[in-house]
Amino acid sequence: MRLEHDALIVGAGGAGLWAAVELAKAGVDAAVLTKMYPTRSHTGAAQGGVCAALGNLEEDHWEWHMYDTIKGGDYLVDQDAAEILAREAIETVIELEHMGLPFNRTSEGKIDQRRFGGHTRNFGEGPVRRSCFAADRTGHMILQTLYQQAIKHGVRFYDEYHVVDLLSEGGELGSGGRAAGVVAYRIADGGLHTIRAKAVMLATGGFGRMFRITSNAWSLTGDGVALAYRHGVPMQDMEFYQFHPTGIVGIGILLSEAARGEGGILLNGEGERFMERYAPTMKDLAPRDMVSRSIYQEIRAGRGIDGKDYVYLDVRHLGRKVIEEKLPDITDFARVYQGVEPITEPVPIQPTAHYAMGGIPTDVLTRVTRDAAGTIVPGLYAAGETACVSVHGANRLGTNSLVDLLVFGRRAGRQIALDVPGVGMPDVAPNADASAAAEIEALRGSAGRESAPRIRRELADVMMDNVGVYRDEGLLTAALNEVRELRGRYAKVGVDDKGTVFNTDLLEARELGYLLDCAETTVVAALARKESRGAHAREDFPERDDAHFLTHSLATRAEGGPTLTYKPVTITKFQPKPRTY
Ligand code: FUM
Repeated sequence: MRLEHDALIVGAGGAGLWAAVELAKAGVDAAVLTKMYPTRSHTGAAQGGVCAALGNLEEDHWEWHMYDTIKGGDYLVDQDAAEILAREAIETVIELEHMGLPFNRTSEGKIDQRRFGGHTRNFGEGPVRRSCFAADRTGHMILQTLYQQAIKHGVRFYDEYHVVDLLSEGGELGSGGRAAGVVAYRIADGGLHTIRAKAVMLATGGFGRMFRITSNAWSLTGDGVALAYRHGVPMQDMEFYQFHPTGIVGIGILLSEAARGEGGILLNGEGERFMERYAPTMKDLAPRDMVSRSIYQEIRAGRGIDGKDYVYLDVRHLGRKVIEEKLPDITDFARVYQGVEPITEPVPIQPTAHYAMGGIPTDVLTRVTRDAAGTIVPGLYAAGETACVSVHGANRLGTNSLVDLLVFGRRAGRQIALDVPGVGMPDVAPNADASAAAEIEALRGSAGRESAPRIRRELADVMMDNVGVYRDEGLLTAALNEVRELRGRYAKVGVDDKGTVFNTDLLEARELGYLLDCAETTVVAALARKESRGAHAREDFPERDDAHFLTHSLATRAEGGPTLTYKPVTITKFQPKPRTY
């Protein structure tokens, strides 16, 4: 079936929903296409808060937030974007409050704020209360609030449609063509739908499912990033992938940094609060890259719990009232998944793959760019974890993800509303869905010669073991060989379920293709970056090397594997300095 809208948003997390609300308010015909029911989007899994320098409990300033974001990102952050993030964080949080989001309150009725890693007062003097929160369900509340607004403003939803191709007019997206719509697969009945649009926004989230232990939902498979890449748009800064320090051992479900924001501490097998040695000022509230590396150092030195590969998160001293009122969900997660009672017992934790700093390159107006000169891809926009604007650089600060998707989701909606009136509905060939249809038929037709679940497991293993918190040439080279071998096998994947109704076998096989694209670019970019910066820790190149690598990587699809080019980092106010906490 062929459909059309002025603006089509792919993804119903916070970025996509806020963009849709802005468009609907501006009278633009906007639709959201999502492979899940919207309120199941992964924004809903964000726990600890959304930061904004409101200064409700102590002095704070957007400039301090901007500085912390840049230093947290190990100076790979584009500083014009970080300034926008820190300034507009304040008005977006207040707008959310006015939409009805039930933030926790101070005794004076102001939005309550808690500490989070790497957020400091007065340019690094010590922790500051900057994270606004709704217990440890902040993302859930944001998602519900924005979805209500989208419904109220009449946004059209295509729920449970899986995006399978991007369409363009006048050439490929990476070589001058403009975005013209998408091809989507309706999960309920297997039908293919071509949806034309004057503007397409990609907001499909991240790709944490390329790792074995991850906080990411099963659906986080890099769909938008990989589709843009297949049409010539580069992937930016893919070597920077964040490991959150406190995941549930073995399964990776997040135990929010809010636990440490409220005063929780990390303990090694000797009962020592080891972060005091690694980050004397910020201690347990150092940025995530440092805390995750410190945990690994303790484990390597034999100071894991009982010599094993995990340490403890201890919140017992916070008391039942704080734990139950401010950390109810993660307390339940520890009880349900670990059989541990956090009120009386320390909780075993280990780092978990959490967030992609890299993604689709955009300018600060969320317009997708396709080269180092910042050439715009007409009609194509991206925001949230899918995008790399870049406000997180080499390492994102906790609670900067929610504010990123709010600030840049809102910007995307406003920008598209400005852009679409001057544009006609693009022409799309009647058989625009032909290549997607052929790909799907090939998967259905091939009689299971290679198993997608097996390849997915092997991919997750090699990414976890070789491309995790610590990397080196040998590990990365072995990973690249294996990812390429898996790609070869993927070409022969077949599915057992040949049906059309809710064929999750088929969907997961397709998603694996997206994950392989993301994994290959991650490894290629990580091999080429012969320095350590933020979340990219090379044991064979332990120092940051600004002379050669203060630069964003761009991985472009090519025969035989991605090619890399580099583009400058925008530096406005803060020159790179050694990064200590
Ligand atoms: O720990 C957390 O609550 C996660 C927050 C984030 O990733 O921003």
